[in-house]
This record gives sequence, structure tokens and C-alpha cells, in this order.
Amino acid sequence: MILTVTPNPCVDKTVFLDELKVGAFMRAGRYGCVPGGKGSNVSRAVHALGRPTRALVLVGGHTGAHVVDMIRNDDGVEPVPVWVQASTRTITTILEEPIHRQTAFFEPGPSVTAEEAASLLTAFSNVLPSATVVTLNGTVPDPILVDIYPQMVEMAKAAGVLTILDSHGPEFARGVEAAPYMVKPNRAETEELVGGRLDSDEACWRATEHFLERGVTLVVLSLGARGAFVATRAERLEVVPPTITEVNPVGSGDALVAGFAVGLHEGLTLEETARLGVAAGTANAMSWDIGHFSKSEVEALLPKVRVTRV
Ligand SMILES: Nc1ncnc2c1ncn2[C@@H]1O[C@H](COP(=O)(O)OP(=O)(O)OP(=O)(O)O)[C@@H](O)[C@H]1O
Ligand SMILES: [Mg+2]
Repeated sequence: MILTVTPNPCVDKTVFLDELKVGAFMRAGRYGCVPGGKGSNVSRAVHALGRPTRALVLVGGHTGAHVVDMIRNDDGVEPVPVWVQASTRTITTILEEPIHRQTAFFEPGPSVTAEEAASLLTAFSNVLPSATVVTLNGTVPDPILVDIYPQMVEMAKAAGVLTILDSHGPEFARGVEAAPYMVKPNRAETEELVGGRLDSDEACWRATEHFLERGVTLVVLSLGARGAFVATRAERLEVVPPTITEVNPVGSGDALVAGFAVGLHEGLTLEETARLGVAAGTANAMSWDIGHFSKSEVEALLPKVRVTRV
């Protein structure tokens, strides 16, 4: 089973409008909600790829209950909820359909007590034995959780479970110090952590070294439409997707993480795993809904992904 961890999930709401007017009261004819916050996107994508997954989420209030309900009943994924007193956030995206422009509003995540932080680790250690791969996704809602990822990486290592870290900011930096099995920063996240601009292939490969030197086994630097640079101590693969009509690339990194998690879960080769990850990311970018592609769409993309040994 592939376990995803989302410390800061959200009700991910999209409101569909013809045109957004600032300072006006706007009535929408249509809106939709999905569970968001990265890890739940990874679980949805793993489920779409037909593999077993559970989604551990730190949730609170009615919005938290809504997230748990959507994970179970809309996504068909078994949630592992850990409850906090404060409420889960809602992220509202306004989509102006004719011009396909997105404007998003992020509420702050809930505050978390020391007791609640401890119960998150307890829940994690209880479910860990049934996992083969754990993905640690997104930010944390409260500074009290800034060291949650290194703690989870250590616990997973002790249990012989592989970890994939996909985060940014201080929690990403702390997590990297614990040497997770795999990291998946995008360009901006890598620039933030490593420093300097990734304005050439050479700079990108040099940045992958930063993580390898800290004991990470597999570095996947995702580059949107350009695909991904994949590095281990022994190999470098440049993985390029086919050209597609991009509809919504949000969540493509999460879909890529799902593909890599499946590859690691199944013991595929690095090349097969990289191909699956990039194909899943690309399938996600081809439709509006996050992580809602089909297995056959991903399979159709697999032979079109170009892998070059560098
Ligand atoms: N326009 C595109 N065309 C083809 N493939 C794409 C496109 N955008 C994204 N992808 C695929 O998705 C993968 C991940 O994309 P990206 O680097 O944008 O992730 P990200 O910034 O982490 O996204 P998010 O955090 O929103 O999930 C890419 O490596 C690529 O395989
Ligand atoms: Mg991302």
C-alpha cells in the first residue's frame, strides 16, 4: 500500500465564472470541491493507476469532515484522519472559463497543539507497517510541525519503508536533512533550497548533486512541459514528455509523485519508473480535474515519453 501524508489538507473549491470583477458581488452558476493539499491528490492519482493507497490527513472542523468524506466517497480512497480542534482551510480558485485564467485564495491552515502533533506521529506509526512507500506532501499548517517530516523519514527508515518528500520552505529543508529516499522539487522549490538560478541544464544537474550529497538516493527535478531530470549516484536520466495541449498543470507534480510511488512499490527499473511518473504528470496536465486521469490515458502516453541517459 502507498501511504500519502498531508499535514495541511484543504477543501479545494473551484468557482466557475465568465469574468472576475474586483470589488463586485459575483454570483456563480457552478462550483466544485475536491480534497486538496497535495497528498490527497497523490492518493487520487495512485488510485487512478489502480494501486492500493491510503491518505493520512490532519483535519479539523466541518471542513475537515468534508475533506475526509470526499476522500472516501468521491475518490474511493481509504482516509486515515487525525483530528485537531481548529478548522481545516478552504482554498478557493476562481476560474474564468473563456480565458482560462485562475485566481486563488489561500486561507491559513489550523493551529496545532503539541498533543495533536504527537497524535499525528502515533497515527503514522500505526499505519506505517502496512505501507511499502510513504509520500510526505506539502506544507505544515503550524510551526510546531516543522520537524514532522524528518521524524517521519526516520520512522519509515526504521520500518524499512521508502519515503518520497515533496514540499517547500523550512519543512522541506528539514526533511532533506533526514535523507528521504526520494525528493521531488520543481524548479522554483529547488532554487529556493539550493540557491541560485536554474537557468541551464548544467545548473539543474548540479542542483541534483546538492540532494545526493545529503544522502538522498533518488532526485527528481520536475520541469513542467520539459519533463524531469532524474538523478541517482549512478545514473542521470532526462525524461521528456510528448507535446500536449495543456489544460491545467496544477497537481501534475503530485501525479508525477504518484507514478514514482507506484514504480517503487512494484520494483520497476529506474527508467520504467521515470517514464510512468512523467506520463502521469502529463496526463494530469491534459484535463482540468486534478488527478482524475485514467490508467489507459497514462498507458497511451508511456511509449511517447522520451528517456535519454545523460
Ligand atoms: N505542459 C505540460 N506538458 C507536458 N507535461 C507536463 C506539462 N506540465 C506538467 N507536465 C508533467 O508533469 C510533471 C510535473 O510538472 P511540474 O514540474 O509543473 O510539477 P509541480 O510544479 O510540482 O506541480 P504541482 O505542485 O502543482 O503538482 C512534469 O515533469 C511533466 O511530466
Ligand atoms: Mg509540486
